[in-house]
Amino acid sequence: MKKILVTGGLGYIGSHTVVELQQAGYQVCIIDDLSNAEAEVADHIQAISGVQPQFDKLDLRVKADVEDYFERNQIDGIIHFAASKAVGESVENPLKYYENNLNTLIYLLQACQKHDIAHFIFSSSCTVYGEPDSLPITEDAPVKPAMSPYGNTKQIAEEILRDTCHAGALQCISLRYFNPIGAHPSGQIGELPKGTPQNLVPFITQTAAGLREQLSVFGNDYPTSDGSCVRDYIHVVDLAIAHVVALQRLMDGDNSDQYEVYNLGTGRGASVLEVVNAFESVSGQKLNYQIVDRRPGDVIAVYADTNKAKDVLGWKTERSMEEALDSAWVWEKNIRNLT
Ligand code: WQD
Repeated sequence: MKKILVTGGLGYIGSHTVVELQQAGYQVCIIDDLSNAEAEVADHIQAISGVQPQFDKLDLRVKADVEDYFERNQIDGIIHFAASKAVGESVENPLKYYENNLNTLIYLLQACQKHDIAHFIFSSSCTVYGEPDSLPITEDAPVKPAMSPYGNTKQIAEEILRDTCHAGALQCISLRYFNPIGAHPSGQIGELPKGTPQNLVPFITQTAAGLREQLSVFGNDYPTSDGSCVRDYIHVVDLAIAHVVALQRLMDGDNSDQYEVYNLGTGRGASVLEVVNAFESVSGQKLNYQIVDRRPGDVIAVYADTNKAKDVLGWKTERSMEEALDSAWVWEKNIRNLT
């Protein structure tokens, strides 16, 4: 049974990917520093898959600990989620982001070289595109100057991976996520934002659950259908499945280049107000919101061209935005013990 290391595997996308990996027959080991996840998530993963993943609490910024881990664990492939990802925080504290998102990647890649680990899946983001010149966005769209240090770490990480692959035996796929939303249909795992949610959907569900007074919609004076920003909201389970498909592609040696990049989105854009309306219809709850000023750094509209993922990777989304919003609402009610 192939043993896959999932860094950040107790986090939102990581935990959903661990479940899909286990259900696809892989043995999974998790490293997480618990800075943005709870250790109990491993039990919830077991509740879904029946298998308790190996979990080691480890700070990937400590090179000696990373080296020691790989001396003790025989790993066949890595899916690397662990990173800081709050755009606003990255502006206030860029060094935290450059250290945590890049040093850790370098230590993992050095371990790959030392232990002949050749299969690496990287969690990237549509943030690397910045404000696109045309829509939908293809993988060969120009990578624009990053809008934040967070986005810059994703751009630099992709360059590190590309150069490392071309210089050696590493085979890597970078997956550029659009906007992940929703939760596992079991209600066992989902998004657990610490403090005030930065992202739209957890703020919506917390408002509907009565934890937040009101949702602020950041601007309705954009050049879009209803004036609010447009994004490509992808169900987290679809996203998790794409990681298994990408890993299998490397394991089977089907990748045509040592370094490949895929957009992971639905290919459809939805405005903030469309998401609000869709949530109200799936939840049957009126949402209390107000229009406020624009949020600095927001792009107007971004959604994926999905042809390469469909035609080359052989993956496409199966779940609708409404299903994702419904699963997010079920999850919110679960964790708040609401009926
Ligand atoms: C979506 C839309 C907001 C909150 C970020 C990262 C990206 C990825 C996903 C990590 C925007 C609006 C939001 C609110 C609002 N993260 N909004 N009120 O900014 O598209 O992407 O998260 O990989 O890399 O950049 O996601 O959910 O923050 O915002 O009106 O309270 O919702 O203005 O238009 P974003 P988001």
